[in-house]
Amino acid sequence: MCGIVGYVGTDHAKEKIIDGLKRLEYRGYDSAGIALPIDGKIQVRKAVGEIKNLEAKIASPDFDAPMGIGHTRWATHGEPTELNAHPHLNMEETIAIVHNGIIENYQEIREWLATEYGIVFKSETDSEVIAHLIGLFYDGDLLEAVNKAVAEMRGAYAVVAIAVDEPDKIVAVRKDAPLVAGIGKGFNFIASDIPAVLKYVQGNIYLIENNETVVLTKDDIVIYDENGNKVDREIYVVDWKADSADKADYDHFMLKEIHEQPAVISETLMSRLNPDDSIRLDDISLTKEDIDNFNKIYIVACGTAYHAGLVGKMVIEKMAHIPVEIDVASEFRYRDTFIDDKTLFIAISQSGETLDTLAALRDAKERGARILSVVNAVGSSIARESHDVFYTLAGPEVAVASTKAYTTQLICMYLIGLYMGSTRGTIDKDYYNYMLGELKALPEKVSRVLENEEFLKNLAARYYFKDNVFFIGRGLDSGVSYEGSLKLKEISYIHSFAIAAGELKHGTIALMDSESLVVALATQDRLYEKMVSNIVEVQARGARIIGMAKEGRTEIEKTSDEVIYIPQCADEVAPVLAVVPLQIFAYYVALERGCNIDKPKNLAKSVTVE
Ligand code: M6R
Repeated sequence: MCGIVGYVGTDHAKEKIIDGLKRLEYRGYDSAGIALPIDGKIQVRKAVGEIKNLEAKIASPDFDAPMGIGHTRWATHGEPTELNAHPHLNMEETIAIVHNGIIENYQEIREWLATEYGIVFKSETDSEVIAHLIGLFYDGDLLEAVNKAVAEMRGAYAVVAIAVDEPDKIVAVRKDAPLVAGIGKGFNFIASDIPAVLKYVQGNIYLIENNETVVLTKDDIVIYDENGNKVDREIYVVDWKADSADKADYDHFMLKEIHEQPAVISETLMSRLNPDDSIRLDDISLTKEDIDNFNKIYIVACGTAYHAGLVGKMVIEKMAHIPVEIDVASEFRYRDTFIDDKTLFIAISQSGETLDTLAALRDAKERGARILSVVNAVGSSIARESHDVFYTLAGPEVAVASTKAYTTQLICMYLIGLYMGSTRGTIDKDYYNYMLGELKALPEKVSRVLENEEFLKNLAARYYFKDNVFFIGRGLDSGVSYEGSLKLKEISYIHSFAIAAGELKHGTIALMDSESLVVALATQDRLYEKMVSNIVEVQARGARIIGMAKEGRTEIEKTSDEVIYIPQCADEVAPVLAVVPLQIFAYYVALERGCNIDKPKNLAKSVTVE
């Protein structure tokens, strides 16, 4: 969602800020802005739309300074307009701020500032109140003014502020919104996300914790806790390559990330296996006693991560014989759940910053659950607030549509299931060895699926104009159907709908006619015949069918107009192979329709608001 970059050094702040903002572009935004202190005034430039529109406005060499702050905004309060874009100024234009998050009591503060101090607001945003509050409290010390302003605010925020009278200093504060400081030599950065600054700071980062305030000058970064005490923070060294967020020779990040799957699946899996094939969870503190103690598991996540959880539920229940409930985080937060110290709570998140998932995690933690998170972004809030973290080694995922994060999340689900199952004695050695063999074969099999790209591209060319697409499947295939449907709708804007195939005749089949396209997944041997019956039902209503089955299951050709084959495999691991053609199909449909594949409209990569 919104992105923040602040730089304090010796020269050309605007270049570094713009470069950092571009590295956060993938998160989604609708306007951008930058503020620099120049000749005793704070100068602000803003533009709606892409960052290049802002670049056009700041091209003049006169618009430059050794420090400044920038922001990409994803509209929440107020339309995407220049007035609503950040940075925001106080009335005297002596303070500028950028803000990520939501100020819940902004209406109250707005009224108070307007009535008591005659402050006139220029934007419809909640964020503008922050600039006015800091301005009100400013008396030559920006840190003090920020602290006083924060005391008036409720909500979630990462705020970065500058003052015209202290042009060598940036002050930032965070509560429930990510913030990192990048440690340079003779310069320093503050940003909402690591990729914005990685290139400049050789991976040297301070992770700013909740309720901490940080003061940056070109030579120093000082962190304070909520009581104003200095914090001695260890440097966090990030080993991601800064350029791993490049498209290489691909037209889109999404396609590149789809193709990275054999490698990242292998890395996620192999990093967890000892030479004797036992699962290595040495950084995870779950003991046999803990595992035996759990009588319930909740898996909570959003979007694609939730879909990985749907598969995870079935896999863990099968292998570990523990009841698993799965919920979308936004629902979990507001329902009555049964959590105690016998509950394992598994949060799944690529970004590790999804607010609903984070809030659900906090709630479960407070009520005594043991928290294990499956996260991709190292050092993210969800990772930091969990008791244990199982990292997916997918590397940076830039496209808004999640692909490689999903398949690596599935690998984690299998490993958790196998680990718990073997610890609890609910699976035997033969099954364990068989499953490990199946998992190890996945990278090569995914590569074989990727070789089908041309076929899938042609399939997309034949169906890209459809208005309604249905995804159906049974068992694990039903979980994958949800993910296939989400991929298609989010990047191609085609209406698509996923449903457990057995549920069709309870209503949804009423929608089937000769215009419908049905993607029918039949990869589960156990449920194959039942699935074929469901395909026949929709075929009888005139729908076009794209069937999917394992190689050798050629009977499906009798009931499908097109067939996608995946390599032979155990039913359990079929989701990893089944989702890949659906990702590629969605990609080429969106390409045919001329959509903005990596940055679909209205979507953000990391959803840090409720
Ligand atoms: O970062 P997270 O995994 O927590 O994100 C959850 C969802 O917002 C995310 O998966 C979203 O659904 C993607 N756009 C799906 O492609």
